[in-house]
Amino acid sequence: MTSIVSIDPQTREGLRCNGTRLWDSLMTLARIGATPAGGVRRLTLTELDGESRRLVIDWLRDCGCGIRIDAIGNIHATRPGTEDLDPIGMGSHLDTQPNGGRFDGAYGVLAGLEVLRSLDDHGIRTRHPVNVTIWTNEEGSRFTPVMMGSGVYAGAFTLEHCLAQRDREGRSVGDALDAIGFAGRDAAPALAAYFEPHIEQGPILEAEGITIGAVEGALGQRWFDVLITGQDAHAGPTPLAMRRDALLGAARIIAAVRRIAEEHPDEARGTVGELSVTPNSRNVIPGRVALTVDFRNARDETLSRMVDALRAECAAIAASDRLEIGLEEVVYFPPCHFDPALVTLVEQAAARLGHSHRRITSGAGHDAVYVARRHPAAMIFVPCEGGISHNEIENAQPEHLAAGTDVLLEAVLAFDRDAAR
Ligand code: GLV
Ligand code: MN
Ligand code: MN
Repeated sequence: MTSIVSIDPQTREGLRCNGTRLWDSLMTLARIGATPAGGVRRLTLTELDGESRRLVIDWLRDCGCGIRIDAIGNIHATRPGTEDLDPIGMGSHLDTQPNGGRFDGAYGVLAGLEVLRSLDDHGIRTRHPVNVTIWTNEEGSRFTPVMMGSGVYAGAFTLEHCLAQRDREGRSVGDALDAIGFAGRDAAPALAAYFEPHIEQGPILEAEGITIGAVEGALGQRWFDVLITGQDAHAGPTPLAMRRDALLGAARIIAAVRRIAEEHPDEARGTVGELSVTPNSRNVIPGRVALTVDFRNARDETLSRMVDALRAECAAIAASDRLEIGLEEVVYFPPCHFDPALVTLVEQAAARLGHSHRRITSGAGHDAVYVARRHPAAMIFVPCEGGISHNEIENAQPEHLAAGTDVLLEAVLAFDRDAAR
């Protein structure tokens, strides 16, 4: 699929990865937690997550990597360099959404692995050590907060706070880490730079026929748990005017979240993705509803205004519908701007390899967003089919995945050669 063409013997520019090997590894990994509809269900810190971690660790060890596991279960695999320098980092996550796809996260990890394998193929020793990191619980669907492992790494949350988080069954992160054997004790290494390849998860690259996105930054996010309390009552005898219907309040909030997103600029997004209705019986007016709100925006100020609007809507709905509505903020990170020099490096790597490219903003959160708080970071996007992700039908073209990995390899080599860090 890919070939080695016109490699400059001095600079090593033009080196290509083995796209077939990358694809085969992605498909092998996708068997762990495979769903009948062609997706992957590999929730964080489950036995399946443990199995995927062990498989990829074996592959990384085969590349001569030393493996370190830190206290939140992040896996740091290091291929030694020739000089005493901080490693150049690559990576992403292996956990998936409940109905996830084969590429979200897995691609970034296995692109990093493919870079190491390609360095081995060509007998290349880098000055810096080169790292692949597998971050714990990027998805945030079993345990909040999202991007937990990279958040602990960057100091966004304390380790203790994260270890104590519980899933819906009451299992804590600490227990779940122990159960799969990934409660580590090693220190996490500092990085000279961090590159994270990922499918775009949106429609822009595909629509424009562009292969590489040099990601400039990511939308800020604010997530809330909303608890609406009314009163359970009989669906027949209770007159409409007497009802304190928590689900009706929830419906009004859902509509308000959408309206708030529509009414704000700067790539505003608003989503209610989870709803839990109590007692959830068809002939009982629901007395209690829990729901989630996910707001995103490219500007922190606008994000704050969206939150103010939500609070005002909730107060108005509580008053008009005689409900109690509580909002708890569970995730907040401002819009992120990646390191300009690394974004340029990605762009230049794409140009040297002859791939079409553009700058792009990520609508999704990624581990790179937190890593960027501690070290220079950037991301490389490749197109995904129909812009669909967080869905079992998520798909990407082998040649695009290979191109993104070639750009990663080129960027890592350029950084290694040029950075006097
Ligand atoms: C992470 O997957 C996000 O929700 O952006
Ligand atoms: Mn991801
Ligand atoms: Mn995801």
